[in-house]
Amino acid sequence: MDSIRVTGGNRLNGAIPISGAKNAALPLMIASILTPETLTLENVPRLTDVQKLAQILNNHGIDITIAGKRAGQGEGYSRTMHISAAEIVDTTAPYELVSQMRASFWVLGPLLARCGKAKVSLPGGCAIGTRPVDLHLMGLEALGAEIELDAGYVIARAPGGLKGGNITFPMVSVGATHNVLMAAAGAKGTTVIENAAREPEIGDVARCLVAMGAEIEGIDTGTLVVHGSGALHGATHAVLPDRIETGTYAMAVAMTGGDVLLENTRMDLLQAAFDVLVEAGVTVTQTNEGVRIARNGAGIRPVHVSTAPYPAFPTDLQAQLMALMTKADGVSTITETIFENRFMHVQELARLGADIRLNGETATITGVKTLKGAPVMATDLRASVSLIIAALAAEGETTVSRVYHLDRGFERIEEKLGRCGAQIERISA
Ligand code: UD1
Repeated sequence: MDSIRVTGGNRLNGAIPISGAKNAALPLMIASILTPETLTLENVPRLTDVQKLAQILNNHGIDITIAGKRAGQGEGYSRTMHISAAEIVDTTAPYELVSQMRASFWVLGPLLARCGKAKVSLPGGCAIGTRPVDLHLMGLEALGAEIELDAGYVIARAPGGLKGGNITFPMVSVGATHNVLMAAAGAKGTTVIENAAREPEIGDVARCLVAMGAEIEGIDTGTLVVHGSGALHGATHAVLPDRIETGTYAMAVAMTGGDVLLENTRMDLLQAAFDVLVEAGVTVTQTNEGVRIARNGAGIRPVHVSTAPYPAFPTDLQAQLMALMTKADGVSTITETIFENRFMHVQELARLGADIRLNGETATITGVKTLKGAPVMATDLRASVSLIIAALAAEGETTVSRVYHLDRGFERIEEKLGRCGAQIERISA
């Protein structure tokens, strides 16, 4: 198993290209199920989660080809993907595949819309809490699906096809919104989704569905009105920039000090996180090429942050912010309200010398002068990158093992950080 070795102490200076968003690329790939015509996605990141989903879609009979680099791109970050679901040969998504990637559960809605039936394993995914799927099922039932659970599988049928319906989610769920939005786009009639998640990746999928022929009102708001016609067509769509990757590198620069341009990304995608960084003493500027992050001289000021659904501070940046606050001049608090059990990085950060106390869903972080390198272990996708951030500012050498978690969501992180001056290398086992 690969590991990553970081020797801390270098400031980051230069430019980092931001890839297409993983959390948009995955549902966009799944949206291809809704049409027999080709869906072309540009700016798809090179990630193991994307490869895995491609395998899962292959299993349904979907053909995927990947073209070379995007015009104007040097070393081939992100790619163009042509996806053709001309014929769905299998409507079952087996446990062996779905358990490897939670988002693959989202094939349920589109398969039902296209084929009138689907059998999809209950998911696995990152070990960050129980993560049920009740809201997905509730939403699909509102569109007329008949659902039963049997031996770890969701068995769903819609004999006459899915029909428009009204759904008010009792809590905000990104995945349930994606699943029901895609199903509604492939259903006949009008669906109203209230309390929909407003994450930019949902807006991105909605825009792609519009390009595929769906009529959707309220994009980027909490109420989506979808006029499905039952027949979507092919389209070409570029995946929006990855706001979590953007925020992660912004925190890395905040941690080490320096000046880095995050290319091809936008500040408005993660305003809440940038507001926190500014409060912490970091300079953030939108330029024509991307977002510039700088911290020179001044220390890191402590902050008090709570995660919540978009547009608030994202849970997917919670671990990275905590890593940053381990070196703040004072005491910070971070409260995690989305997932229980999303504090697995705390123990590993402590191995580097961080002072963090946990009380229920709140972590209290007392900044320390010095972090010291140590062997640590990645436990989930976002936790693993928080260890890299801490390691960049730690004295000496840190080895992060189990980096397959990182490869799920960060495109060639060692290369991107290395070109800005970090001492970081992958050690292949
Ligand atoms: C997505 C993101 C993940 C991010 C999360 C929250 C992708 C591929 N993943 O995950 O990176 O951390 O949004 O922003 O885009 N819940 C239920 N019942 C359900 C569904 C969810 O109770 O049927 C709960 C979950 O346990 C959790 C909360 O709702 O506590 C939010 O989960 P959700 O927004 O659905 O997260 P995911 O879509 O799994």
